[in-house]
Amino acid sequence: MIRVAVAGAAGRMGSTVCEAVSGAGDMELVGRADPALDTSVSQVLEEQPEVLVDFTLPSTVVSNAREALAAGIHVVIGTTGFDLAELSGLGGGASIFIAPDYAIGAVLMMQFAAQAAKHMARAEIVELHHDGKLDKPSGTAARTAELMGGEVPIHSVRLPGLVAHQEVILGDVGQTLTIRHDSIDRQSFMPGVLLAIRQVGSLTESPVVGLEKLL
Ligand SMILES: NC(=O)c1ccc[n+]([C@@H]2O[C@H](COP(=O)([O-])OP(=O)(O)OC[C@H]3O[C@@H](n4cnc5c(N)ncnc54)[C@H](O)[C@@H]3O)[C@@H](O)[C@H]2O)c1
Repeated sequence: MIRVAVAGAAGRMGSTVCEAVSGAGDMELVGRADPALDTSVSQVLEEQPEVLVDFTLPSTVVSNAREALAAGIHVVIGTTGFDLAELSGLGGGASIFIAPDYAIGAVLMMQFAAQAAKHMARAEIVELHHDGKLDKPSGTAARTAELMGGEVPIHSVRLPGLVAHQEVILGDVGQTLTIRHDSIDRQSFMPGVLLAIRQVGSLTESPVVGLEKLL
């Protein structure tokens, strides 16, 4: 059994991760950290988890990771909107895994977009999310642009009713190509998060970024 603690456990993603971990036959949920639950990351680390999963805020994720790694606990990060460079050099004996998007369809969308960008003149990204999302552009859109080779304009839409959606539109003479992914339920992220929890302990380098590295 892998002992797992979740930071941001009262949030939209964190609460869904808690349910998924509780339902996984090979995992045990040993702590839920969240100011909304009056429980700090330090308190849940006392339960000696093997992995801390973080779906919190850009302003808290790095200090949470630092604290877990100092205690020799692996970290799986889903939080977006922070500078990954802040994690370099951290780790010691423990590893960090980060994915801007844990949905398999989004990983495929990013790969198809990177492939298409080599053959079409220009591209733009439209990312659409629920109105509670704090960062803009989304981590997925930023990562997609990076994989496509940089300088791709990103448009951000924030509206109630949306979950997480992205269109990559490529244009060339007389034609366009649209690649679209929709996460219509946060369950879409759970197989990827559980995979990361299972594999973070056997990474040979750290940090590792992107779910495609585990597939
Ligand atoms: N990687 C992915 O696949 C993916 C998918 C969806 C969302 N996200 C990202 O996950 C993050 C969380 O999104 P959300 O919609 O669940 O947000 P949310 O606001 O619903 O939840 C965040 C939670 O973190 C808690 N929190 C704040 N400071 C904390 C701390 N120091 N320690 C522990 N908990 C703390 C808050 O009280 C809140 O409950 C965002 O950065 C979002 O962009 C990533």
